[in-house]
Amino acid sequence: MKNLLSIESLSAGEITEALDLAAVMKAGRGNHAEKPLRGQSWALIFSKSSTRTRVSFEVGIRELGGEVIFLSNADSQLGRGEPIKDTARVLGRLVHGAVIRTYAQSDVEEFAQFSRLPTINALTDQEHPCQIIADLFTIREKLGSLEGKTICFLGDGLCNVARSWIWAAIRLGFQLRIAAPPAYQPALPPGAPILCTDDIHAAVAGADVLYTDVWVSMGKEDETAYRTAQLGPYQIHRGLLRETAPLIMHCLPAYRGKEISEDIFEENAATIFDQAENRLHAQKAILTLLQ
Ligand code: CP
Ligand code: NVA
Repeated sequence: MKNLLSIESLSAGEITEALDLAAVMKAGRGNHAEKPLRGQSWALIFSKSSTRTRVSFEVGIRELGGEVIFLSNADSQLGRGEPIKDTARVLGRLVHGAVIRTYAQSDVEEFAQFSRLPTINALTDQEHPCQIIADLFTIREKLGSLEGKTICFLGDGLCNVARSWIWAAIRLGFQLRIAAPPAYQPALPPGAPILCTDDIHAAVAGADVLYTDVWVSMGKEDETAYRTAQLGPYQIHRGLLRETAPLIMHCLPAYRGKEISEDIFEENAATIFDQAENRLHAQKAILTLLQ
Protein backbone atom coordinates (compact mmCIF):
# COMPACT_ATOMS: atom_id res chain seq x y z
CA MET A 1 0.00 0.00 0.00
CA LYS A 2 1.51 3.35 -1.07
CA ASN A 3 -1.26 5.65 0.20
CA LEU A 4 -4.62 5.34 1.91
CA LEU A 5 -6.73 7.78 -0.08
CA SER A 6 -10.07 5.95 -0.05
CA ILE A 7 -11.68 2.54 0.45
CA GLU A 8 -12.54 2.69 -3.26
CA SER A 9 -8.83 2.57 -4.13
CA LEU A 10 -8.11 -0.51 -1.97
CA SER A 11 -8.37 -4.14 -2.98
CA ALA A 12 -10.10 -6.75 -0.83
CA GLY A 13 -6.66 -8.18 -0.03
CA GLU A 14 -5.33 -4.82 1.18
CA ILE A 15 -8.34 -4.28 3.43
CA THR A 16 -8.02 -7.77 4.90
CA GLU A 17 -4.29 -7.31 5.46
CA ALA A 18 -5.00 -4.09 7.40
CA LEU A 19 -7.67 -5.84 9.52
CA ASP A 20 -5.35 -8.73 10.32
CA LEU A 21 -2.52 -6.40 11.30
CA ALA A 22 -4.88 -4.26 13.42
CA ALA A 23 -5.55 -7.36 15.53
CA VAL A 24 -1.79 -7.87 15.99
CA MET A 25 -1.38 -4.19 16.94
CA LYS A 26 -4.18 -4.40 19.48
CA ALA A 27 -2.88 -7.59 21.08
CA GLY A 28 0.68 -6.24 21.24
CA ARG A 29 0.03 -2.66 22.35
CA GLY A 30 2.79 -1.51 24.70
CA ASN A 31 5.10 -4.35 23.62
CA HIS A 32 6.00 -3.51 20.04
CA ALA A 33 9.55 -4.73 19.44
CA GLU A 34 9.60 -3.09 16.01
CA LYS A 35 9.31 0.67 15.58
CA PRO A 36 8.67 1.05 11.84
CA LEU A 37 8.37 4.85 12.09
CA ARG A 38 11.61 5.34 14.02
CA GLY A 39 13.41 8.48 12.84
CA GLN A 40 10.35 9.70 10.91
CA SER A 41 8.33 12.90 11.26
CA TRP A 42 4.71 12.85 10.09
CA ALA A 43 2.58 15.94 9.36
CA LEU A 44 -1.08 15.99 10.38
CA ILE A 45 -2.77 18.65 8.25
CA PHE A 46 -6.33 19.24 9.44
CA SER A 47 -8.78 21.79 7.97
CA LYS A 48 -11.71 20.39 9.97
CA SER A 49 -12.23 19.65 13.66
CA SER A 50 -11.25 16.27 15.13
CA THR A 51 -10.97 14.53 18.47
CA ARG A 52 -10.59 10.79 17.71
CA THR A 53 -8.70 10.95 14.43
CA ARG A 54 -6.16 13.49 15.61
CA VAL A 55 -5.47 11.88 18.97
CA SER A 56 -5.38 8.31 17.66
CA PHE A 57 -2.95 9.27 14.88
CA GLU A 58 -0.72 11.30 17.22
CA VAL A 59 -0.56 8.46 19.76
CA GLY A 60 -0.23 5.78 17.07
CA ILE A 61 2.65 7.50 15.26
CA ARG A 62 4.49 7.94 18.57
CA GLU A 63 3.89 4.31 19.58
CA LEU A 64 5.46 3.26 16.27
CA GLY A 65 8.54 5.37 16.99
CA GLY A 66 7.74 8.51 14.95
CA GLU A 67 7.25 12.22 15.68
CA VAL A 68 4.20 14.31 14.81
CA ILE A 69 3.72 17.88 13.59
CA PHE A 70 0.09 19.05 13.79
CA LEU A 71 -0.93 21.82 11.40
CA SER A 72 -4.42 23.29 11.46
CA ASN A 73 -5.51 25.71 8.75
CA ALA A 74 -4.84 28.56 11.13
CA ASP A 75 -1.21 27.42 11.61
CA SER A 76 -0.09 26.91 8.03
CA GLN A 77 -0.09 29.06 4.92
CA LEU A 78 -2.77 26.77 3.47
CA GLY A 79 -5.21 28.86 5.50
CA ARG A 80 -3.98 31.98 3.65
CA GLY A 81 -4.35 30.41 0.23
CA GLU A 82 -1.02 28.70 -0.51
CA PRO A 83 -1.84 26.00 -3.08
CA ILE A 84 -1.94 22.36 -2.02
CA LYS A 85 0.63 21.41 -4.63
CA ASP A 86 3.16 23.91 -3.27
CA THR A 87 2.57 22.83 0.32
CA ALA A 88 2.94 19.23 -0.81
CA ARG A 89 6.25 19.87 -2.58
CA VAL A 90 7.66 21.60 0.51
CA LEU A 91 6.52 18.93 2.96
CA GLY A 92 7.69 16.21 0.58
CA ARG A 93 11.25 17.41 1.21
CA LEU A 94 10.86 17.70 4.98
CA VAL A 95 8.66 14.98 6.47
CA HIS A 96 8.12 11.27 5.91
CA GLY A 97 4.34 11.03 5.63
CA ALA A 98 1.11 13.02 5.87
CA VAL A 99 -2.34 12.54 7.35
CA ILE A 100 -4.86 14.99 5.89
CA ARG A 101 -8.40 15.95 6.92
CA THR A 102 -10.05 18.37 4.53
CA TYR A 103 -13.04 19.03 2.26
CA ALA A 104 -12.20 18.03 -1.31
CA GLN A 105 -11.00 14.50 -2.05
CA SER A 106 -9.00 15.98 -4.93
CA ASP A 107 -6.89 17.95 -2.42
CA VAL A 108 -5.72 14.75 -0.69
CA GLU A 109 -5.01 13.14 -4.06
CA GLU A 110 -3.12 16.21 -5.28
CA PHE A 111 -1.10 16.26 -2.07
CA ALA A 112 -0.10 12.61 -2.52
CA GLN A 113 0.85 13.23 -6.14
CA PHE A 114 2.99 16.32 -5.53
CA SER A 115 4.55 15.35 -2.20
CA ARG A 116 5.26 11.72 -3.17
CA LEU A 117 4.83 11.00 0.54
CA PRO A 118 2.77 8.16 1.99
CA THR A 119 -0.52 10.06 2.38
CA ILE A 120 -3.53 9.10 4.48
CA ASN A 121 -7.06 10.48 4.05
CA ALA A 122 -8.20 11.33 7.58
CA LEU A 123 -11.68 12.34 6.23
CA THR A 124 -12.80 14.28 3.20
CA ASP A 125 -16.31 15.14 2.04
CA GLN A 126 -16.12 11.98 -0.07
CA GLU A 127 -14.67 9.27 2.18
CA HIS A 128 -13.52 8.40 5.69
CA PRO A 129 -11.44 5.27 5.04
CA CYS A 130 -9.68 5.10 8.44
CA GLN A 131 -13.05 5.04 10.18
CA ILE A 132 -14.38 2.20 8.07
CA ILE A 133 -11.24 0.06 8.48
CA ALA A 134 -11.56 0.45 12.27
CA ASP A 135 -15.29 -0.34 12.04
CA LEU A 136 -14.74 -3.48 9.96
CA PHE A 137 -12.16 -4.55 12.53
CA THR A 138 -14.68 -3.90 15.33
CA ILE A 139 -17.34 -6.00 13.58
CA ARG A 140 -14.88 -8.86 13.13
CA GLU A 141 -13.98 -8.56 16.81
CA LYS A 142 -17.62 -8.58 17.96
CA LEU A 143 -19.25 -10.92 15.43
CA GLY A 144 -16.31 -13.12 14.47
CA SER A 145 -16.39 -12.41 10.75
CA LEU A 146 -17.91 -10.15 8.11
CA GLU A 147 -18.91 -13.06 5.95
CA GLY A 148 -22.66 -13.37 5.51
CA LYS A 149 -23.32 -10.29 7.63
CA THR A 150 -25.79 -7.54 6.80
CA ILE A 151 -24.86 -3.99 7.78
CA CYS A 152 -27.55 -1.30 7.77
CA PHE A 153 -26.52 2.36 7.61
CA LEU A 154 -29.24 4.81 8.65
CA GLY A 155 -29.31 8.53 7.89
CA ASP A 156 -27.33 10.60 5.40
CA GLY A 157 -26.52 8.06 2.72
CA LEU A 158 -24.53 10.68 0.82
CA CYS A 159 -22.02 11.42 3.57
CA ASN A 160 -18.37 10.39 3.63
CA VAL A 161 -18.90 7.52 6.10
CA ALA A 162 -21.77 6.04 4.05
CA ARG A 163 -19.69 6.29 0.87
CA SER A 164 -16.80 4.44 2.48
CA TRP A 165 -19.27 1.75 3.63
CA ILE A 166 -20.48 1.41 0.05
CA TRP A 167 -16.96 0.75 -1.22
CA ALA A 168 -16.24 -1.65 1.65
CA ALA A 169 -19.35 -3.68 0.70
CA ILE A 170 -18.37 -3.69 -2.96
CA ARG A 171 -14.80 -4.77 -2.22
CA LEU A 172 -15.57 -7.36 0.49
CA GLY A 173 -18.95 -8.58 -0.72
CA PHE A 174 -21.03 -8.29 2.47
CA GLN A 175 -24.62 -7.04 2.32
CA LEU A 176 -25.12 -3.32 2.92
CA ARG A 177 -28.47 -1.60 3.28
CA ILE A 178 -28.86 2.16 3.37
CA ALA A 179 -32.00 3.56 4.99
CA ALA A 180 -32.37 7.19 3.89
CA PRO A 181 -34.95 9.56 2.44
CA PRO A 182 -34.76 9.79 -1.37
CA ALA A 183 -32.78 13.05 -1.33
CA TYR A 184 -30.05 11.37 0.78
CA GLN A 185 -29.74 8.13 -1.17
CA PRO A 186 -26.49 7.66 -3.09
CA ALA A 187 -26.19 6.66 -6.74
CA LEU A 188 -24.69 3.18 -6.72
CA PRO A 189 -22.27 1.58 -9.13
CA PRO A 190 -24.02 -1.13 -11.20
CA GLY A 191 -24.07 -4.56 -9.54
CA ALA A 192 -23.26 -3.26 -6.04
CA PRO A 193 -24.56 -5.64 -3.30
CA ILE A 194 -26.44 -2.76 -1.71
CA LEU A 195 -30.10 -2.04 -1.00
CA CYS A 196 -31.04 1.63 -0.77
CA THR A 197 -34.50 2.33 0.59
CA ASP A 198 -36.55 4.91 2.43
CA ASP A 199 -38.35 2.04 4.22
CA ILE A 200 -36.50 2.00 7.52
CA HIS A 201 -38.28 -1.12 8.79
CA ALA A 202 -37.40 -3.13 5.69
CA ALA A 203 -33.79 -1.93 5.97
CA VAL A 204 -33.27 -2.93 9.61
CA ALA A 205 -35.15 -6.27 9.48
CA GLY A 206 -32.67 -9.06 10.21
CA ALA A 207 -29.61 -6.78 10.00
CA ASP A 208 -26.57 -7.80 12.07
CA VAL A 209 -25.36 -4.22 12.54
CA LEU A 210 -27.18 -0.87 12.66
CA TYR A 211 -24.78 1.99 12.01
CA THR A 212 -25.38 5.72 12.08
CA ASP A 213 -23.49 8.99 11.74
CA VAL A 214 -24.30 12.64 12.36
CA TRP A 215 -27.04 14.16 10.22
CA VAL A 216 -25.04 17.37 9.73
CA SER A 217 -21.52 16.59 8.55
CA MET A 218 -18.76 19.16 8.89
CA GLY A 219 -19.23 21.85 6.26
CA LYS A 220 -23.01 21.30 6.01
CA GLU A 221 -24.00 23.41 9.01
CA ASP A 222 -26.09 25.80 6.87
CA GLU A 223 -28.43 22.88 6.09
CA THR A 224 -29.06 21.91 9.71
CA ALA A 225 -32.80 22.67 9.82
CA TYR A 226 -33.57 20.93 6.52
CA ARG A 227 -31.45 17.88 7.33
CA THR A 228 -32.97 17.52 10.79
CA ALA A 229 -36.47 17.54 9.30
CA GLN A 230 -35.63 15.17 6.44
CA LEU A 231 -33.59 12.68 8.47
CA GLY A 232 -35.78 12.76 11.61
CA PRO A 233 -37.57 9.47 10.81
CA TYR A 234 -34.22 7.65 10.49
CA GLN A 235 -33.20 7.84 14.16
CA ILE A 236 -32.05 4.63 15.88
CA HIS A 237 -34.41 4.31 18.85
CA ARG A 238 -36.00 1.57 20.93
CA GLY A 239 -39.13 1.27 18.79
CA LEU A 240 -36.97 0.18 15.86
CA LEU A 241 -35.38 -2.63 17.85
CA ARG A 242 -38.51 -4.49 18.90
CA GLU A 243 -37.91 -7.54 16.75
CA THR A 244 -34.15 -7.48 16.41
CA ALA A 245 -31.02 -7.16 18.60
CA PRO A 246 -28.23 -6.07 16.30
CA LEU A 247 -24.86 -4.57 17.11
CA ILE A 248 -25.36 -0.79 17.28
CA MET A 249 -22.45 1.31 16.01
CA HIS A 250 -21.71 5.03 15.72
CA CYS A 251 -18.53 6.62 14.40
CA LEU A 252 -18.92 9.58 16.82
CA PRO A 253 -19.37 12.39 17.66
CA ALA A 254 -22.98 11.50 18.56
CA TYR A 255 -25.95 13.82 18.83
CA ARG A 256 -28.43 12.22 21.21
CA GLY A 257 -32.04 12.74 20.27
CA LYS A 258 -31.00 13.24 16.64
CA GLU A 259 -29.49 10.22 14.84
CA ILE A 260 -29.66 8.04 17.99
CA SER A 261 -31.71 8.18 21.16
CA GLU A 262 -29.95 8.72 24.49
CA ASP A 263 -30.98 5.35 25.95
CA ILE A 264 -29.91 3.29 22.94
CA PHE A 265 -26.61 5.16 22.76
CA GLU A 266 -25.79 4.50 26.41
CA GLU A 267 -26.88 0.83 26.26
CA ASN A 268 -24.44 0.34 23.37
CA ALA A 269 -21.63 2.53 24.68
CA ALA A 270 -19.28 -0.45 25.15
CA THR A 271 -19.37 -1.20 21.42
CA ILE A 272 -19.29 2.44 20.36
CA PHE A 273 -16.25 3.31 22.47
CA ASP A 274 -14.46 0.10 21.39
CA GLN A 275 -14.99 1.44 17.88
CA ALA A 276 -13.30 4.70 18.92
CA GLU A 277 -10.38 2.84 20.52
CA ASN A 278 -9.99 0.64 17.47
CA ARG A 279 -9.15 3.71 15.41
CA LEU A 280 -5.73 3.58 17.09
CA HIS A 281 -5.05 -0.08 16.32
CA ALA A 282 -6.35 0.11 12.75
CA GLN A 283 -4.35 3.25 11.96
CA LYS A 284 -1.15 1.76 13.40
CA ALA A 285 -1.71 -1.13 11.00
CA ILE A 286 -2.16 1.28 8.10
CA LEU A 287 0.93 3.32 9.05
CA THR A 288 2.95 0.10 9.17
CA LEU A 289 1.66 -1.10 5.81
CA LEU A 290 2.64 2.22 4.22
CA GLN A 291 6.33 1.62 5.07
N1 CP B 1 -15.06 9.62 14.05
C1 CP B 1 -14.16 10.60 13.86
O1 CP B 1 -13.49 10.68 12.84
O2 CP B 1 -14.06 11.46 14.91
P1 CP B 1 -13.28 12.83 14.95
O3 CP B 1 -14.01 13.79 14.03
O4 CP B 1 -13.33 13.28 16.38
O5 CP B 1 -11.88 12.63 14.48
N1 NVA C 1 -19.90 12.52 8.44
C1 NVA C 1 -19.23 13.15 9.56
C2 NVA C 1 -18.19 12.24 10.13
C3 NVA C 1 -17.55 12.75 11.38
C4 NVA C 1 -16.48 11.85 11.89
C5 NVA C 1 -18.62 14.46 9.12
O1 NVA C 1 -18.07 14.53 8.02
O2 NVA C 1 -18.70 15.44 9.88
